[in-house]
Amino acid sequence: MIIRRFQPSDAQAVSDLVITTIRISNIRDYSAKMMEDLIKTQTPHHMLERASWTHFYVAEEEGAIIGCGAIGPYWDKEDESSLFTIFVHPDHQGQGIGRAIVETLEKDEFALRAKRIEIPASITGLPFYQKMGYTFKNAVDTLDEEGLYRLEKYRVSEVQQAMLNVILSRRSYRGKYKPDKVPRAHLTAIMEAGLAAPSGCNKQTTSLIAVDDPALLSRIKAVVDPPVAETAPAMICVLTQRINAYRDRCFATQDYAAAIENMLLAITALGYQSCWYEGHITDTDRIGDQIARILDVPENYELVCILPVGIANSEPTMPNKKAFEERAWFNGFQQPERRN
Ligand SMILES: Cc1cc2nc3c(=O)[nH]c(=O)nc-3n(C[C@H](O)[C@H](O)[C@H](O)COP(=O)(O)O)c2cc1C
Repeated sequence: MIIRRFQPSDAQAVSDLVITTIRISNIRDYSAKMMEDLIKTQTPHHMLERASWTHFYVAEEEGAIIGCGAIGPYWDKEDESSLFTIFVHPDHQGQGIGRAIVETLEKDEFALRAKRIEIPASITGLPFYQKMGYTFKNAVDTLDEEGLYRLEKYRVSEVQQAMLNVILSRRSYRGKYKPDKVPRAHLTAIMEAGLAAPSGCNKQTTSLIAVDDPALLSRIKAVVDPPVAETAPAMICVLTQRINAYRDRCFATQDYAAAIENMLLAITALGYQSCWYEGHITDTDRIGDQIARILDVPENYELVCILPVGIANSEPTMPNKKAFEERAWFNGFQQPERRN
């Protein structure tokens, strides 16, 4: 099976396919009169007209057209699109052809430029489109005057998805690192990400020291007991000043937590691995204080965390994470509302 762009010479075959599908599949959900009225409009001329302002595709197998679908602008909107005329021949339904057609349409330039894609969906097509991630527009789950559901999907652009992927793929890495040095430009970019984090009343209580000098790194690693990140070629040490943001409110912990997460994301985005080592160095044995002394950190700063930076030698392990529904809800605690 291939999916290709519609050509004018396909108009008759597409019309036949649509009419056959309506007569065999859609008729189960609608009155015969309604379907016969619809069939009258599904002429080869109608297909040519539709193809004149949409990007129309057909699924072809052994020379026969077995599916079709189109995408075009949603009215005159530049950033919204609509899917039209999605049909799969009854003999080929359930074989992934509908999915392949919708995935093709979602890669079309009308989809890529859109932040929202709408589908006027038949009762027959509803479960399929829901499986493809489309939901009731404005949460209206009733049929319109044409007997169709209005479904929609909000698209995430490639840049937005890449950003989300960095966040979702960050892991605590505790394995060995490759010996490759981390360029200063990258360490600087990571620290800039840390300093860009929000801080309570903008007090900017977090400071950072990147360590990439091998001799200094060895001295630090020698005091970390039990040892962690022994092979990391660089490390960022996080310092905090416990100063109040206002009245007696000190947000230093929140400030450095935000800075650390920003840095972990920057580390991930740049292709490195790390781990938030805080519990390990701030326990009763006060390893952080020993590292602070090696780095000549003044008394009014506390060294609270070390972040190794380097290229991983192995895959990070995925910890158990609770399901979304166990920890996040819409409009009230443990509400069972749908996610999309
Ligand atoms: C405040 C804080 C302290 C942490 N301290 C340590 C630590 O001392 N040693 C360690 O191996 N991991 C430490 N971690 C990492 C957590 O164990 C890790 O984030 C958690 O197991 C979830 O795994 P993930 O980061 O891959 O999602 C710390 C994380 C946080 C937020």
